[in-house]
Amino acid sequence: MMRIDILSLFPEGLSTVLKESVCGRAQAAGHVDICVTDMRKYAELPHRRADDAPYGGGGGMVLLAEVVAQAVEDVATEGAIKIVLDPAGEPFTHDLAKEFSLSDHLVLLCGHYKGIDERALEDLNLRPVSIGDYVLTGGEPAAWVLSDAVIRLLPGVLGDFESAQSDSFFDDGLLGAAVYSRPSEWRGRSVPEPLQSGDHAKILAWRMDSMKRRTRERRPDLWRTCAEANENGS
Ligand code: 6GU
Repeated sequence: MMRIDILSLFPEGLSTVLKESVCGRAQAAGHVDICVTDMRKYAELPHRRADDAPYGGGGGMVLLAEVVAQAVEDVATEGAIKIVLDPAGEPFTHDLAKEFSLSDHLVLLCGHYKGIDERALEDLNLRPVSIGDYVLTGGEPAAWVLSDAVIRLLPGVLGDFESAQSDSFFDDGLLGAAVYSRPSEWRGRSVPEPLQSGDHAKILAWRMDSMKRRTRERRPDLWRTCAEANENGS
């Protein structure tokens, strides 16, 4: 079973969201054990101060190296992947999710305020990871995103059908096809004929076409990579 330790100064919201949906079911079924820890526990008495002003001035507060070190060293096992959620980190991708899903133990450190004392990141060998080019108020939503993306890849978490589907659409670098359900006619819009034909080959061809069209229109960056991979230009 995989273990995910999440270290946070605001642990309550995370504990709640991780109990829901696929993450909640995966925990109940014993595929993953998620443990959210309040880092303030590692701050020293009497004031349990976890942050201080940055050297060199400027606004915001910096998480103290010693608090972070105590927390990470308390939960991390030998061989754990230790990640710090950081908008200045390496971009989180499906490939990184796959890599992390092969580990037995992830430690996710959520930063806040201005950031974390750099010496702690170096000393503890933390890997900075970002979930996208925008700034959140803290690392908690990012830890949720990362955990969700990793947990759904663990063997047995998704049904065979769901997992086979997701693999075929992300592994070949194309966006998923458009989907439709009943009724076949809605507000003058019809479900594409091939999907209603019952002809498996036609359905597959239509879906592949939909995937290509969407990728070309919505993600020209992915489409170029794909075209290069297939060496057919366009
Ligand atoms: Cl990992 N943390 C924060 N605070 N903001 C982010 C992020 C992480 N990834 C994108 N924006």
